[in-house]
Amino acid sequence: MRPSFCTICFLHFLLPLVVFARPLFPLPSKTNEIERRPLQTFRPYNIAHRGSNGEIPEETTAAYLRAIEEGADFIETDILASKDGALICFHDVTLDDTTDVASRQEFSNRRRTYEVEWSNVTGWFVVDFTLEELKTLKVKQRYPFRDQQYNGKFSIITFEEFISIALDASRTVGIYPEMKDPVFINKHVKWDGGKKFEDKFVDTLLKYGYKGQYMSENWLKQPLFIQSFAPTSLVHVSKLTDSPKILLIDDFSVRTQDTNQSYWEITSDDYLAYISNYVVGLGPWKDTVVPPAKNYLMAPTDLVARAHAHNLQVHPYTYRNENQFLHLNFHQDPYAEYDFWINIMGVDGLFTDFTGSLHRYQEMISPHPKGETANSLLVKIAQMISQYEGL
Ligand SMILES: *[C@@H]1O[C@H](CO)[C@@H](O)[C@H](O)[C@H]1NC(C)=O
Ligand SMILES: *[C@@H]1O[C@H](CO)[C@@H](O)[C@H](O)[C@H]1NC(C)=O
Repeated sequence: MRPSFCTICFLHFLLPLVVFARPLFPLPSKTNEIERRPLQTFRPYNIAHRGSNGEIPEETTAAYLRAIEEGADFIETDILASKDGALICFHDVTLDDTTDVASRQEFSNRRRTYEVEWSNVTGWFVVDFTLEELKTLKVKQRYPFRDQQYNGKFSIITFEEFISIALDASRTVGIYPEMKDPVFINKHVKWDGGKKFEDKFVDTLLKYGYKGQYMSENWLKQPLFIQSFAPTSLVHVSKLTDSPKILLIDDFSVRTQDTNQSYWEITSDDYLAYISNYVVGLGPWKDTVVPPAKNYLMAPTDLVARAHAHNLQVHPYTYRNENQFLHLNFHQDPYAEYDFWINIMGVDGLFTDFTGSLHRYQEMISPHPKGETANSLLVKIAQMISQYEGL
């Protein structure tokens, strides 16, 4: 008797909802916050690497808005500093490959050679331009085989502008900023009061309310991962913020820019035990996790298993749709690559240049519950409770 009674009271409860189609229990906060869909945490994170830069020039407002539209969980960026200490979103220390600087007469005498991470680099350096000058430059697509139609249309944005894009989104979108080349930046840019690049970086996050440990209430409201290749920068910022941090790991041959450690040192079990006091995960170059030979994948290393044993997440980079980047095992199919990394390798997040492709793949394999909002969750809870009322 009991089940049928419950079914009736369940239907009885549901009927007014269908008729009035409005929430029964509005929360005591602003409507737009009630309606904001929360960050999904039930499947690996879709990390929009430099925005949707497979389609639109990297790290521009348009690239980030496109990534949000396409389903990004996090928008990813690289933070550098201008000559006058402004924090900006830009990947390379030089402006050459992704802006029109080379064609700008007024900056023709601004080319320099500096040592960057153990080698000499020549070009137009971000640190030799004020924010005002950087804002006059136009961004262009990095790769010749990608869509060139947006070249010259967008400007470099600041860290604060980037944060506003995430905070203004109609659903909860996390941010994933990198403290880029901190050794180089601290050598060339100075701030008042002896503050370092890392201090300014954290000041900016705190100013906009980013704080709290991984999965804390505050973190879920404003999700954030801080990333860096420099272990000492991550240790330094741990004293300033409890926000989750990710240690990036480069190719086998690259030594850390600050501590001059090899790949093997920073992926040893002893080191993972040490760094897990400061970070919640690793961001390795995917070809070190599963090394390729002649463009075919070889046997996977045990890095993912060892990281997980130390309670560290693994967010490899970078997934790209084009044949130039896809290993031959995947037969030119980016979905096959996502399938391998998510279902065989078991990673926890993926840096992708094509957020839309990763999102479509995940919606096929592990769909997002339809129309889930804070309100619809409340309604679900009310429905569940109502089944027990009057028993
Ligand atoms: C960079 O160039 C300078 C000046 O020529 C030289 O002294 C230095 O050793 C070079 N550094 C590297 C890493 O090659
Ligand atoms: C970094 O470490 C390597 C290997 O131990 C060493 O050869 C090199 O001189 C070191 N570089 C610096 C700048 O200390």
